[in-house]
Amino acid sequence: MSKAPRKIIIDTDPGQDDAFAILLALASPEDLEVLGITAVAGNVPLALTERNARIVCELAGRHDVKVFAGCDRPLVRPLVTAEHVHGKTGLDGPEMIEPTMALQEAHAVDFLIETLRAEAPGSVTLCPLGPLTNIASAFRKAPDVVGRVAEIVLMGGAYFEVGNITPAAEFNIYVDPEAAAEVFAAGVPIVVMPLDVTHKVLTTRARVERIRALGSRVGQVAAEWADFFERFDVAKYGTEGGPLHDPCVVAYLLKPELFSGRLINVEIETQSALTLGMTVADWWGVTDRKANAYFVGDVDAQGFFDLLTERLARL
Ligand code: RIB
Ligand code: CA
Repeated sequence: MSKAPRKIIIDTDPGQDDAFAILLALASPEDLEVLGITAVAGNVPLALTERNARIVCELAGRHDVKVFAGCDRPLVRPLVTAEHVHGKTGLDGPEMIEPTMALQEAHAVDFLIETLRAEAPGSVTLCPLGPLTNIASAFRKAPDVVGRVAEIVLMGGAYFEVGNITPAAEFNIYVDPEAAAEVFAAGVPIVVMPLDVTHKVLTTRARVERIRALGSRVGQVAAEWADFFERFDVAKYGTEGGPLHDPCVVAYLLKPELFSGRLINVEIETQSALTLGMTVADWWGVTDRKANAYFVGDVDAQGFFDLLTERLARL
């Protein structure tokens, strides 16, 4: 008897790489039941991230997916966005048409709380792909739901790869370090996909052309998102292709054997202006701080792209 699909909520700030993650999840209904998608301000302002989430659902032919708008700014700091990477709309590259599916009325934080209370304890996995503002806000508003979360599998942070928005910090954590600190201290099992691993899944030409060759609208749009999205990292790092950060979260849920890491302590810097948002990862076990996160450092990159491409072909 096949296992029931894993129940997940995707918290996201699309972002071309978020879009790939959402498509991968929606292309895998036998493995993942997407209970809802919660948008958060991050790469671009909330009005765009919620619109973009709906665009991606429609591209996947999934007008049924519930999309909610969440927090439009970090817990205590002004919003920092990343149009320099993702373009003005957050999904620059291909021409996109405005979504027709409705945005849900409820606030994303209330959806997170109500869903965690309604579903069996330990049955829902949270998949944050942007700043952790919605997640931390739900935990603050309803501490009773923290213990009901099965696991958090998130994209964020960096150790060996250091920062991508400052010399010390990765964007998702940097935008809302207070939220990240609260989520990492909440006691929920956490799997972290930091830049250390996402910088190993690069959109090389061969990989992008393989997606374009799918011959579908999804393949065409996804390839054009990659064409646009990679240019910032290619110029900065001189790599062939850009890092496809967020789909690492979904790929981990589908094929964890593609990844490897260590269960270690990870703390978030929230005081120092110089290193604000740094994920201080005790990779070498030099402290007696309690391990609170499975910090992923390596991936079978070709296996990742094989999985991604095979699943995109289904849409
Ligand atoms: O630093 C990379 C992360 O920041 C990705 O999730 C990207 O989409 C942006 O949100
Ligand atoms: Ca993101």
